[in-house]
Amino acid sequence: MERDIAISVKGLSVSYERKRVLSNIFLELKAGRVVGVVGPNGAGKSTLFKAVLGLIEPNTGLIQIRGKDPDKVRKEVAYVPQKNDVDWSFPATVMDIVLMGRYPFKGVFQRLSKEDNDIAMEALKEVGMEKYKDRQIGELSGGQQQRVFLGRALCQNAQVFFLDEPFVGVDILTEEKIITILKKLASQGKSLLVVHHDLGSVQDYFDDVILLNQRLIAYGPTETTFNDENIKRTYGGQLPVLHKMGEID
Ligand SMILES: Nc1ncnc2c1ncn2[C@@H]1O[C@H](COP(=O)(O)OP(=O)(O)OP(=O)(O)O)[C@@H](O)[C@H]1O
Ligand SMILES: [Mg+2]
Repeated sequence: MERDIAISVKGLSVSYERKRVLSNIFLELKAGRVVGVVGPNGAGKSTLFKAVLGLIEPNTGLIQIRGKDPDKVRKEVAYVPQKNDVDWSFPATVMDIVLMGRYPFKGVFQRLSKEDNDIAMEALKEVGMEKYKDRQIGELSGGQQQRVFLGRALCQNAQVFFLDEPFVGVDILTEEKIITILKKLASQGKSLLVVHHDLGSVQDYFDDVILLNQRLIAYGPTETTFNDENIKRTYGGQLPVLHKMGEID
């Protein structure tokens, strides 16, 4: 197994009850890249994440993260679920949530240290939420909640990040700040997968792109892969309106 392969997916198929959602997906993701995952609603993007993370049982398929079984590399993997997959009503403060990112490093009886707190504060600063550290998570705006979950992922010091629509409800300045952080993490050799719906920013944000619609439509460097034909194939022949992409009719 080559060391620079962050994620390897071989022959992954997933069904819910009888309905086939992902068919025979093969992927090899290199480390040190920010990878966009693009496709219409219901394409199976979140399902792909959950299957790779081992949160749902696939019908078939072999998954490896950094050359190992996903169960063996839990500490190295951070996950920000899609917003509607999170129960925001549970009682926890912003700091509690971010500190959860530190738990994978702790033994059962080990307490969080001052260092853990410092790392959590640093992560909160990166997402611009340090002023809200004692606020209940349920009392934040949608975009602020999203930023807190990103803070938790940063705090975990993971090698591989799965971010499912991290920018939903986040204002554009924060979005730009966060994408800068993601690019910095990639330049340090970390791997980031980001489900994203704004096709207009795909070229700017991602080194590579995965176009998905139940099948893997295309995967490769954004510059060459994110083209008119592949986008049409992904969205069923209907070309969505693309902002900032004047070259597409
Ligand atoms: N727990 C579930 N039980 C049954 N069907 C499900 C379940 N979760 C997802 N599905 C179905 O599987 C398909 C893929 O869902 P998934 O959430 O992976 O899509 P997605 O690409 O993430 O879509 P979106 O852009 O809307 O988030 C959809 O048809 C969805 O209705
Ligand atoms: Mg989804």
